[in-house]
Amino acid sequence: AVTVSYRMRVRSQRHHARSFLLEFQEACATPVARLRQIVDAMAVEMHAGLVSEGGSRLKMLPSYVDQLPEGDEKGLYYAVDLGGTNFRALRVQLGGKESRVIKQEYEEVAIPPELMIGTSEELFDFIAKELSSFVAREGDGFQPSAGQSRDIGFTFSFPVQQTALNSGTLLNWTKGFKVVDAIGQDVVAALQRCIQKRGPEMRITALVNDAVGALAGGRYWNEDVMIAVILGTGTNAAYVERAQAISKCGSTFPKSGEMVINMEWGNFWSSHLPRTPVDETLDNETMNPGEQGFEKMISGMYLGDVVRRVLLKMAQEAALFGPNVPRKMLEAFSLGTPDISKIHDDESSDLKMVGNVLRDVYGIQNTSLAVRKIVYEVCDTVAERGARLAAAGIVGILKKIGRDGTHSKDVGSPVHPECGKTVVAMDGGLYERYSKFRAYMQAAAAELLGDASKDVVIELSKDGSGVGAALLAASIAKNRRK
Ligand code: GLC
Repeated sequence: AVTVSYRMRVRSQRHHARSFLLEFQEACATPVARLRQIVDAMAVEMHAGLVSEGGSRLKMLPSYVDQLPEGDEKGLYYAVDLGGTNFRALRVQLGGKESRVIKQEYEEVAIPPELMIGTSEELFDFIAKELSSFVAREGDGFQPSAGQSRDIGFTFSFPVQQTALNSGTLLNWTKGFKVVDAIGQDVVAALQRCIQKRGPEMRITALVNDAVGALAGGRYWNEDVMIAVILGTGTNAAYVERAQAISKCGSTFPKSGEMVINMEWGNFWSSHLPRTPVDETLDNETMNPGEQGFEKMISGMYLGDVVRRVLLKMAQEAALFGPNVPRKMLEAFSLGTPDISKIHDDESSDLKMVGNVLRDVYGIQNTSLAVRKIVYEVCDTVAERGARLAAAGIVGILKKIGRDGTHSKDVGSPVHPECGKTVVAMDGGLYERYSKFRAYMQAAAAELLGDASKDVVIELSKDGSGVGAALLAASIAKNRRK
């Protein structure tokens, strides 16, 4: 009798977990009709953000990049890249149209977590220190042209109000950074000061968001690249806009008639987004509650934690993992997006990998297949929602620039008015390493674009964001010489 009632209890708890799952899945649903509303909202908000400062939650920040690399850049350029979990320094020797990237090297270090919440001086000094030791190891095959200084492109992947290509003030932090005294500071001046103190003779000539860098990196290889999207720790997009459409900038148009816009789409918001109570609690417990709502449903920093919170609820309310809630499951960010990608990749009939991850991360032993299935489905639901939302965002941008197939051809952007292919350059670890996420995103974009999808190519431009800043520094130097 004891075992019968025990089994019944387990069954009823599992039933409880299943119905919780169904409820969650329903709340996360992104049928194509809903995605279309998000597409439209994205295009509308983009417009509003361009018209006036504060006109939308989308900041639509002018990047002051009015010319993208063309492939004929030459010389030695550096880039430093701050924005995710790692810091990178990089150098590239460019050989012009024919030989392109002759040689490239980089070094990557994890950013000590205390620096993410310390002082501005400590953070920028850390970058300057890493950079100067990297520069000191500049070896064979790298050579600045005669008289050429060592120019740096600074990829700084946070919202910055730029006043020129090489200056801008930090508006706010995202992605778990909180170096309070840096807000409102000119980040180029701050880093330049620290570099000077450390010694190497270098100057920062371009300040770029990673999405802008990815656009530059993508364009260097393919002139049809119009949009770049980052899906990594955070998420963002940049694209080429007609200067005239940026009414908040007044009437000072760049010669080229176009400008790259850093959308800061992580902060996009629309009532059509499928937000659940789990998203609300996650948001409340982050360092930037009420902000980056789109990012918190999509990007690598958060996907794992959304899954963890759902599993925790199931553990607490339906004893999904037995009578005790695994202690570590109470810890925010204890389940990473790489973990859920691993779970999600498990194609075996007994979902062994799912069991392994639960054991390795939370010490949960001997799960039943039914439990592993539930865990798998939670990952599937969260990743699918994120991927489909990202696709809707991309189609929203295509719509804004007249490349989603719903406009007549002549509304196209000024760069390629004949409107051939439109290429979207993708960068970031989430896109690169999470294959099911990528597949869901591609499928949703195709679904939304219908016939027009034959004219749109969404492709990985690996590491575009890092090299992109160096390429922009090179293209600035080139235009200076002209
Ligand atoms: C966050 C930042 C944004 C960056 C993105 C991807 O959304 O605010 O500037 O581009 O992460 O790294």
